[in-house]
Amino acid sequence: MAEAALRFMRLYARGFRNLERLDLEPGPRFNVLSGDNGAGKSNLLEALYLLGVGRSFRGAAKADMVRLDEDEATLEALLDSGTAPRRLGLRLPRRGSRRLLLDGKRPRSLAVWHAAVQVVLFHPGHLALSTGGSELRRAFLDRMLEQMSPSYASNLSCYTRALKSRNRLLKDETPDGRALLAYAEILAREGAELVRERATLVEELHPKAERAFEEISGAATKLELRYLPRVEGGEEQLREAIAASLSEDLRRGYTTQGPHLDDVTFTVSQVSARHYASQGQHRALVLSLKVAELDTLTKRVGRTPILLLDDVSSELDRSKSRRLFSLLARLGGQIFLTTTHPEFILLDEHRVDFEVKEGRVTPAR
Ligand SMILES: Nc1ncnc2c1ncn2[C@@H]1O[C@H](COP(=O)(O)OP(=O)(O)OP(=O)(O)O)[C@@H](O)[C@H]1O
Ligand SMILES: [Mg+2]
Repeated sequence: MAEAALRFMRLYARGFRNLERLDLEPGPRFNVLSGDNGAGKSNLLEALYLLGVGRSFRGAAKADMVRLDEDEATLEALLDSGTAPRRLGLRLPRRGSRRLLLDGKRPRSLAVWHAAVQVVLFHPGHLALSTGGSELRRAFLDRMLEQMSPSYASNLSCYTRALKSRNRLLKDETPDGRALLAYAEILAREGAELVRERATLVEELHPKAERAFEEISGAATKLELRYLPRVEGGEEQLREAIAASLSEDLRRGYTTQGPHLDDVTFTVSQVSARHYASQGQHRALVLSLKVAELDTLTKRVGRTPILLLDDVSSELDRSKSRRLFSLLARLGGQIFLTTTHPEFILLDEHRVDFEVKEGRVTPAR
């Protein structure tokens, strides 16, 4: 087990989705949340994820997260991070803006939050990482890098703002050439940094994901990850590519070169996973990515993040499930799993079971 692990010691929720007033004391290792469809299991994971990253995993609007008959949702958690426990708080008023509180005070920025707590989430929608469009894979890398590096978050927001402004200009009847050039300069400078960090991250994830994939599949099937930049090279090449595509960009009304169009390719036994993998293989692939994410965050941050697994074992055959759980048992750290079938969660040790029923969470008998 890793030397240090983050751990939610206590969780309080009020007015959040369908959850009844909640005061939960999770176990230090495996927490199995079981219940019927619609019981509130994913809602509980969403609450934990929100506290972990300050935003929703379903891209949900704030008002949707507040219980229908309430005006505000509040979440609080006591977090063990090795030293003194930290208090995380989040208030979501139906109207007005979200408020984060770290040890009772507003953090100066989201980066301060990211430095205090790290979570890794798998939920069924993440299968689209291997089956869907490239924007999901970029977002996967971007969210990870934001959790690990404050400078990445500011590079990315600089890049995104310049991209938006340039795209707006490109649609003008008579665009200002000097402004276009100035934005291109920002895109080249910040963009090269994004490419560098993302490519390095993919290299770091690759052997870890490969190992996890082999272990979950139980066969010598090779998973490969490759970062695929739209423009090869560094800042200079990016600057040239953007300059060279100016007339094309003007015709199309958007920026056609740059890391906002980069991708990551996954190949399984040398064929593209996106088009050829089975449902179970996609699931094994995305789970391997999550294991690699956890491993990488542990190395870079110096402690094991909290792992949230929503409906993880459906679609995996029994032997894949068994191998996944033995891998999880080795990872260490605190893990929350939801399931409609607790008997499918093939874990015996260090396990605490909770029942979720119509928004009420109770220790299982
Ligand atoms: N703001 C809200 N107020 C009240 N109820 C809500 C709110 N948002 C969602 N719900 C309800 O919460 C219920 C539980 O949703 P959740 O996704 O947590 O179920 P689940 O236990 O994960 O089920 P499944 O096994 O199908 O994944 C849904 O029936 C939904 O209608
Ligand atoms: Mg669910």
